[in-house]
Amino acid sequence: MASSASAAEQESFLVDFHARQPGVTSRAFARGGSYAAIVRAALRLAPTRARIADLGCGDGYLLAELRGAGCDGPLLGLDLSAAELRAAVARQAGAAFVRARAQSLPLRARSLDLVVSHLAFTLMAELDAVVAELGRVLVPGGHFVTVVGGGPSGGDAFAGFLELARPCVRGVPRLGELRARSDRGLAELFAAGWTALTVEDLVVDLSGTPEEVWQTMAGVYELAHASARELAAIRGAFVERAGQWRRDDGSVGCTMATRLVHAMRAGYSPSQGAQSTDEAFTPGIGGLRSRGDTYAGRHRS
Ligand SMILES: C[S@@+](CC[C@H](N)C(=O)[O-])C[C@H]1O[C@@H](n2cnc3c(N)ncnc32)[C@H](O)[C@@H]1O
Repeated sequence: MASSASAAEQESFLVDFHARQPGVTSRAFARGGSYAAIVRAALRLAPTRARIADLGCGDGYLLAELRGAGCDGPLLGLDLSAAELRAAVARQAGAAFVRARAQSLPLRARSLDLVVSHLAFTLMAELDAVVAELGRVLVPGGHFVTVVGGGPSGGDAFAGFLELARPCVRGVPRLGELRARSDRGLAELFAAGWTALTVEDLVVDLSGTPEEVWQTMAGVYELAHASARELAAIRGAFVERAGQWRRDDGSVGCTMATRLVHAMRAGYSPSQGAQSTDEAFTPGIGGLRSRGDTYAGRHRS
């Protein structure tokens, strides 16, 4: 069972977990449609040459997708995990990367047009500080778009796997805050200084062959401390049961309920015109207040 833990304990768990499995999230979720939902929102909301940051960017998959979709401004990834950031640099996503906590961003005020975040906001402690930082670094009229997860969306392999895994869950702190998971909590977080909050249900489809679904599910935080023997036992039971979750197209059904959240930084009036400031996030990493822990990703801007 998850235990309550301080922000430092939660973050230390995350850093340790991601050091052992960098890229675990993008390997599991690339085929599910949740990154694509953020990319569509970004293309709709971001101006030409928008300055975009990904909060909890992991191995940079989302930034590479944004670049590939035509986002042509400076891109910046921020994460706690040095291992994930090294993987992100190796991906050559056309972005720069910096190790930082979302609660204390090394960026100047009003230096970004859009902040995105995929399955990371729900893991963050001290959300008031995170939202305050978002409000500080976004220009008025700038946007925050995130996919927050999530649990099983039906009685398929996702729920079945979690049931099989439950006896082996230990030493995992409770991560993040419940406010990121409810309409009321999100409305509270994005009340003062924000406008146009929308929350849409988004079912992420991770169905596939039994092996694909196993690979997706075996990377969950819950099994961080399971032994090799326990993992082998869960895998055996999972493969045995996979038939019961089979869909008409032959794949093993595995769906996760997530939500696509969008909020706009208040204070922009169309008569203000262009939103850039003298503290602009210039091409490269000119918006950074300090260059400590900067990873040498390349911009294409
Ligand atoms: C589930 S992974 C998602 C990674 C990436 N967004 C993706 O979807 O591929 C969550 C990431 O958020 C990062 N993270 C969690 N809390 C954070 C915080 N307070 N500040 C910065 N990064 C954080 C973790 O280190 C981890 O890389």
